[in-house]
Amino acid sequence: MSKSVLFVCLGNICRSPAAEAVARKLVFNRSAKATIASAGTIGAHTGAVPDSRMRTAGEARGYRFLSVARQIAREDLVVGKNTLVVAMDRSNLADLLRIATGPTDHIFLFGEFLDEKSTPDVPDPYYGGQQGFEAVLDMLERGCPKILDFLDRSDRSS
Ligand code: 4NP
Repeated sequence: MSKSVLFVCLGNICRSPAAEAVARKLVFNRSAKATIASAGTIGAHTGAVPDSRMRTAGEARGYRFLSVARQIAREDLVVGKNTLVVAMDRSNLADLLRIATGPTDHIFLFGEFLDEKSTPDVPDPYYGGQQGFEAVLDMLERGCPKILDFLDRSDRSS
C-alpha cells in the first residue's frame, strides 16, 4: 500500500494547497511514490481553487496547483487512512487533535520539520501582502523534503 501525506491549514486555499504542490513535485522526482493531498479545518472555501496570489507565487517557482478546497473529516485522521497528517500552524494542530477520536501520533506540526530558528507556525498569508506568500513557499521548500525523508523512513503505510 502506498504512503500518504495530508497537509492541513485553515481554509485549504493558501498554505496547504501550496504544501501539496511543493510535495507533489518532490514526489514526482523521487523513486518512492506517495499520495499527497490537503484539506482545511473550516469549510468556508469548499470547492474553491487555490488563492490566486498563492498560485501566482507558486507557479512562478514551477509548481502546479491541482487541489480543490475541502474540509477535513474525522475519518481523515483515523490511523491507517493517512501515513502522516501535517498541520501548518499550532492552531490547525489543536483543531485536528480536537477532532481526532483515536491515536494521534501520526499528526505533526509542519514546524517540526524546520530548523529550530524557524517560527513553529507557517504564517497565514491570507490577509497580508504578496511577500507573505513567498515566505510561505520558502518555508515549504525547506520542510517538505524533510517530510518526504521522514515518510520514507516511516514503516507505517496506509
Ligand atoms: P489558508 O489561508 O488557511 O492558508 O488557506 C486562509 C484562507 C482563508 C481564510 C483564512 C486563512 N479565511 O479567513 O477565509
